[in-house]
Amino acid sequence: MNLTIFPGGPLRGCVEPPGDKSLSHRVALFAALAEGESCVERFLVSGVTEAMLRSLKALGVAWELSDDTLRVYGRGLHGLRAPESVLDCGNSATTMRLLTGAVAAAGIAAVLDGSAGLRRRPMERIAEPLRQMGVDITTAEGGGAPLTLGSRPPSRRLSALDYSLPVASAQVKTCLLLAALAADAPTTLHEPALSRDHTERMLRGMGVEVETSPELAGYRVTLTPPKAPLCPLRGMLPGDFSAAAFLMAAALITPGSELTLPGVGLNPTRTGLLDAFRAMGGDIEVSNLREYLGEPVGDLKVRFSPLRGVEIAGEWVVRMIDEFPAFAAAAVFAEGPSVVRDAQELRYKESDRITALCSELRAVGAQVEETPDGFILQGGGVRGGVVNPHGDHRLAMSLAVVGLASREPVKVLGAEITRESFPGFPDVLRSLGAQMTEAYE
Ligand code: S3P
Repeated sequence: MNLTIFPGGPLRGCVEPPGDKSLSHRVALFAALAEGESCVERFLVSGVTEAMLRSLKALGVAWELSDDTLRVYGRGLHGLRAPESVLDCGNSATTMRLLTGAVAAAGIAAVLDGSAGLRRRPMERIAEPLRQMGVDITTAEGGGAPLTLGSRPPSRRLSALDYSLPVASAQVKTCLLLAALAADAPTTLHEPALSRDHTERMLRGMGVEVETSPELAGYRVTLTPPKAPLCPLRGMLPGDFSAAAFLMAAALITPGSELTLPGVGLNPTRTGLLDAFRAMGGDIEVSNLREYLGEPVGDLKVRFSPLRGVEIAGEWVVRMIDEFPAFAAAAVFAEGPSVVRDAQELRYKESDRITALCSELRAVGAQVEETPDGFILQGGGVRGGVVNPHGDHRLAMSLAVVGLASREPVKVLGAEITRESFPGFPDVLRSLGAQMTEAYE
């Protein structure tokens, strides 16, 4: 589906962003490892979480989805059944990396594979430390999927690990913490900067001893293998800050806009973009702070604001790792340049987000310079044009948002990819006042 967005607006109204993608992956999987029935509302039903649910079914886990309420009948820490066929993780690196940790803990043989895009993502970053724990795991040539795990006799526990992650990564951290649930002693991981800590919070809520503390060069997390079964999960998920990010950018750049976004997850390891937009002069109010499933949540009010460029580097990058497409959509309309450094991890996301973002922003007339670890983006607005999101859901949403304030329309090819993390994204924008057409060419 090709989506053409016409400049205009204003955008006004109130919309609840979809349930958090990272948390949806985690609740489905962690609930499967608990004993008893979990029930979670506002589960994100989308391409990437369907990959997790489908794989769980293949591992013998029973679950039911009714609208966005997910019920999972937990099988306990050692209850996953060896799958009869390859586990298809679709486009979801979160599914692949997290499931690998759980499969390693269960000691069952399995093969995990996915789309051509997923096969390009680096998997040695989980395989290498898992081998140190005694997991029999191989990656394909080049270090990607398919991943093949061998079985382990139930009497043999995994070896505890003391490991420094070369790059901050919540997926790698989570994979290793899940494997560590079945280790013979506490496991300690060191991260150069604190990546999203949803796993630590959720496992703690399920009764697992998980301690986090800052250390000289980053953060340390220690997990003690539990003696008791994991408690089931019950509650409501926060709205996805990373989905809200596109609506925030849209309101900030479209004259006359005012949007209310209730129930958005505000975990401080995820809200780097809020700080960036505020540093740029964005008018964003946070109110009604509360907690859902151990995660901070609040309501956002975002108003059109004249923006100025900003420089992002260091740990700030980790706190907004998924938000550079939304950031760039606003930064092209700022006054003065925006600079991103220390962000080479963006090259390993759903696309090489540095090269892809730079090339597509250029296609709509932006002046942007690619650097090895980021980009320098001149503000001042863009013309418009036809863009290719490189099969990346966040790039597609970012480019659609650019079309709201460009001088001419922006046509996003293959825009159905937005469903991966934000089902109904075009309809939401339309309901807020955006002008667009959809074409199936
Ligand atoms: C995620 C962690 C991040 C993020 C991804 C989701 C998670 O990836 O980019 O969208 O749910 O743990 P990395 O761990 O590779 O940084």
